[in-house]
Amino acid sequence: MRNGKVGFAVVGCGVIGPWHAKAISLAPQAELIALCDIEIVKAQKLAAEHGNVPCYSDHRKMLKNELDIDCVCACVPSGLHWRIAVDAAKAGRHVLSEKPLDITLRTMDKMIETCCARKVKLGCIFQRRTMAMTKTARQIIQEGRLGKLVLADCYMKYYRSPGYYRSAGWRGTWELDGGGALMNQGVHGIDQLLYVAGDVAVVTAHAAPLVRDIPVEDTAVAILRFKSGAFGVIEGTTSVTPGMSCRTELHGENGTLIFNDSGLVKYALADEKAGVAKDVELKIAEDEPPKSTASDPKALSVLGHLIQVMDMADAIVEDREPMVSGEEARKAVELILAIYKSAKTGKTVKLPLR
Ligand SMILES: NC(=O)c1ccc[n+]([C@@H]2O[C@H](COP(=O)([O-])OP(=O)(O)OC[C@H]3O[C@@H](n4cnc5c(N)ncnc54)[C@H](O)[C@@H]3O)[C@@H](O)[C@H]2O)c1
Repeated sequence: MRNGKVGFAVVGCGVIGPWHAKAISLAPQAELIALCDIEIVKAQKLAAEHGNVPCYSDHRKMLKNELDIDCVCACVPSGLHWRIAVDAAKAGRHVLSEKPLDITLRTMDKMIETCCARKVKLGCIFQRRTMAMTKTARQIIQEGRLGKLVLADCYMKYYRSPGYYRSAGWRGTWELDGGGALMNQGVHGIDQLLYVAGDVAVVTAHAAPLVRDIPVEDTAVAILRFKSGAFGVIEGTTSVTPGMSCRTELHGENGTLIFNDSGLVKYALADEKAGVAKDVELKIAEDEPPKSTASDPKALSVLGHLIQVMDMADAIVEDREPMVSGEEARKAVELILAIYKSAKTGKTVKLPLR
């Protein structure tokens, strides 16, 4: 802690690192202590906007020198999150990882186990969980307002240009992106679906690069059976034009709830007197005006990151779990890996994976 504030460092100053630096600078209980990128000029450029904090090209050196760092934000390519997290935890620092937590069960478990053994917090950015609509939807399902859940679907139809996949060498690779439309973009909607509708028990899927010249999938479809018994589908792509708002559809025996990036689309409940379902007014706390990354990955609000940085700082001070713990964040990646396994083998796959 410095000046009574939780000290943060950002490792990886590419596209998303600056969002973390901004969120930290806006959070009253947080302070940016240092920045790190293997391409140090990226860290230095960002530091110029944030009081010229010290910059490093090696996160281990940074952890050794900068004793005021309490928490490290891992903003490096997805398959390197575990490396930063494990080194930070071993140096006694808390970790806030970007999504996905990492790209394999082995590396995610290493992160979770090391943070647990070193008694440091592990959080993961899934900013859709901070949206009022997500929280309301989860409450509606948990209170059983739709009755028995029958269908829970998520449609994530993004557009990412060929140039996007060329913009950094790790994008669209198995080694560091861990997959394509689902592991990178779709993991947000999948986490949101699991958070709202519960865990999945069985999956059958197709996944392939249908348009882009990449080894990973640019398009995937999956049929789900949830632990609750409900069925559902996931559709994810980065190859349709234009990108569409991410849409979640929940149908129960007594009602329907549909929402997208902009908020509520439909909430209707069975009305015994009328004999048919009727639209019902739903009061949702005010979010800021929605921004959508459907076609542009940089059209991202800082609010979700700000809420999660503030939550992480509070979790450290209050010695409680962050709003999205490592264990929670692992679930979406495990489901995506099950989808890939089903697509590869042509077989139905049961969760948990072994
Ligand atoms: N939450 C969101 O909405 C969101 C949005 C974009 C990206 N992300 C996630 O953030 C992560 C980074 O994505 P990006 O688009 O910013 O990638 P990027 O390629 O733009 O930036 C990654 C940076 O990490 C640096 N780097 C690589 N290895 C490093 C190491 N060992 N030490 C220090 N720096 C290293 C690179 O030089 C690069 O500047 C990914 O996991 C991605 O999934 C999340």
